[in-house]
This record gives sequence, C-alpha cells and structure tokens, in this order.
Amino acid sequence: MGEIKIAISGIGNCCCSLIQGLYYYKHINSNDESVPGLMHNVLGGYKISDVNPVAAFDIDKRKVGRDLSEAIFAKPNNTLRFQKDVPKMDVRVQMGPVLDGVAPHMMNYPEDEAFRVSNEKPAEVVKILKDSGAEILVNYLPVGSQKAVEFYASCALEAGIGFVNCMPVFIASNPVWAKKFEEKKLPCVGDDVKSQVGATITHRVLTKLWADRGVKLDKTYQLNFGGNTDFLNMLERSRLISKKVSKTESVQSQLPQRLADNNIHIGPSDYVPWQKDKKVCYIRMEGRKFGDVPVVMEARLDVEDSPNSAGVAIDAIRCCKLGLDRKIAGPLKSISSYTMKHPIEQYSDSEAYQRVEDFIAGKRER
Ligand SMILES: NC(=O)c1ccc[n+]([C@@H]2O[C@H](COP(=O)([O-])OP(=O)(O)OC[C@H]3O[C@@H](n4cnc5c(N)ncnc54)[C@H](O)[C@@H]3O)[C@@H](O)[C@H]2O)c1
Repeated sequence: MGEIKIAISGIGNCCCSLIQGLYYYKHINSNDESVPGLMHNVLGGYKISDVNPVAAFDIDKRKVGRDLSEAIFAKPNNTLRFQKDVPKMDVRVQMGPVLDGVAPHMMNYPEDEAFRVSNEKPAEVVKILKDSGAEILVNYLPVGSQKAVEFYASCALEAGIGFVNCMPVFIASNPVWAKKFEEKKLPCVGDDVKSQVGATITHRVLTKLWADRGVKLDKTYQLNFGGNTDFLNMLERSRLISKKVSKTESVQSQLPQRLADNNIHIGPSDYVPWQKDKKVCYIRMEGRKFGDVPVVMEARLDVEDSPNSAGVAIDAIRCCKLGLDRKIAGPLKSISSYTMKHPIEQYSDSEAYQRVEDFIAGKRER
C-alpha cells in the first residue's frame, strides 16, 4: 500500500517503544498468524514496517541534534529495551519551542531522571514538516503542555497533515479544534492513549461488567504510580487537570448513571524513581448486588507503561493514514473511541472494537 510518513513531537518513553516496535515487527506482513502484542498485523493493507518516521522534535539537550535512533535511548528515557538493533534512521531530532512543555519542578530532580532544556534555537516546525514529506504528526508531549500541544496541532494544520494526539490536551475531542481539522479536510485521532491492557481499559471493562450484571457501583478509586518522567511531571497537580478529566470520564462513560464526584477518585498518585517505566495501578470497587448485599473488588495491575501505549498508537497511526487516503475530514470517531481515553464520542469497548473493524473494512465512514 505504500509508506506512512510520520513526524513525532516528544521523543520520550512512548516514542521509544513505538520506534523499537517498528523494527521488532518489521517481518510481519500478513494476518495469517496471531502475533503477541498486536491488535492488527496488517491494518487496511498497511504493515507496521510501512510506518516511517521522517521528522522529530524535542527540547532536551540529550536528544536534540541526535539521530532519532539514539535519542530514543537517551536519558531521562528509561523504558525497557525489547529491540536490540535500531539502525541509524537519518532523522535528526530538531529543537521545538519549549512553551509550557517543561514543568519548573523538573530542575529539582537529578539530571538522569528529569528534563533538561537545550539552548538551541527552536526550528521552523512547519517548514520541517513540509520538507520532510510527513503525512501525520504524532504528539507525545508531557501532560499539562496546553500551549505547546496547541502549537504543534496548529503546525499540523498549516503543513496540511493528519494529527494523532496521544496525550490529554483536548484537540480531537474539542469541537473547536475538531472543526479546524474538518475545515482543512484533514483527519485527526485523539485524545490520550488508552493503553493495550492498562488501568483505564481494565477499570472501564470491570465497571461495564458490574453494570451489565445489575451490580450498583457506589464508590471506586484507581491509584497509579511509576518512576518515569510522565509520573515525575504529574507530581505538579496544576498540570493534571485534563489528565484527571480524561481518566475519570473514561470510566464514568461506562456507567448507566454517573457517580457523584466524591465517590470516584482516579488519577496519577506518586512518583517512585526505582520503578522506572513500570507502572503499578490499584483499583477498588465497592457496590451492592442482589438484596443490596455488599460486594467489593480489588485489582492490581503491574505493567511496563510505554510499550502498552505503543501497541495502541500503531493502530491509531494506520487508521489516520486510512483517513488521509479516504479524504476524511475531522475526528475519526471509531479509532479514537477504541484507542483513546477521551474521544469526541464514547462507546463501550466492544462496540468501539466493532466500529473500528467496520471502519477498516470501509463499511463505516469514520
Ligand atoms: N502508557 C503510557 O505511557 C501513556 C498512556 C497514555 C498517555 N500517555 C501520555 O503520552 C505522553 C508521552 O508520554 P511519555 O511517557 O513518552 O512521556 P515522556 O516524559 O517520556 O516524554 C515527553 C517528551 O516530551 C519532550 N518535550 C517536552 N516539552 C516539549 C516541547 N515543547 N516540544 C517537544 N518536545 C517536548 C520531553 O523532553 C520528553 O522527551 C504523556 O503526556 C503521557 O501522559 C502515556
């Protein structure tokens, strides 16, 4: 079917896992076998090896100026290396404008754990996007980077390319931004990746299970902690507002009646450096079954965070390319609902799955 040229903003752990995956799965070229870690070996005719990074942006002095194949393993990235060989890619990481991408408290943490801003001058992002031939910009900026994400979304619009927003600044799910992509006749997917088997999908599916079985959920929490820069960044509570909305609404959307705000507590809870990219999540659900008899469920999830998101982003990117091929303008609702926590329209996960299959097969417009 041809290649999918992508640009990436934010060369952190999620980007590292995504790029490792491009090489790890490069020999997979049919749907004949079931491959661990993939939801679709070939999606709409596109193989994983068709995804080709052509431009990259970051602000960290250990990443800017380096080849993307090296920058993904530079500090403070600390996710698992599951692919030994990542060849030189001839893509130089360019300096982006910092704007609100870096939280001030990062300076209070050791250099190996936190962001350190390069003193290079910001590059001309739109020009680089155009010159590189990028078709889609995949956005992986830190939580709370409202201005920086809006900047990159505007650059995608100006360069005339699609946008896949993997984090919780609301673009594809914000009607104002969705309209801008519609007007430019460009597809977008977002917002905030719902990982393969992560905290959100587990909590959503359990919540839906209880509702479908007639059990009344009275109270619930989901506490998450890890040792990567995503968790370090989120220690600053003021940056967390949209992340909490994204995670909480994702679970609320599966309930027949919303829980009162003080009966649902979901969010990132702490930073534990030695955990590195391993995230631990505790979910507790309290409710009532037949006869108003109490029922309590607790789940503990222990996952490497970033490959969990890459396994989903790889399908969001390929669906965005199908959107470009089919000249679909604005948010792609089915893949956004399936792969993102905060889509413009929420469906149950089984319905979203079916809608994505229909979209890939060309039976559903978006
Ligand atoms: N499973 C997951 O890991 C997961 C799931 C859902 C959403 N997300 C979200 O995806 C985003 C990326 O996660 P991550 O773990 O890769 O984070 P990360 O902290 O490892 O990477 C963020 C990168 O952005 C760079 N950056 C900061 N400001 C920038 C700017 N103005 N321009 C360009 N680059 C800039 C940083 O230097 C860093 O390299 C986060 O917002 C996270 O919440 C992650």
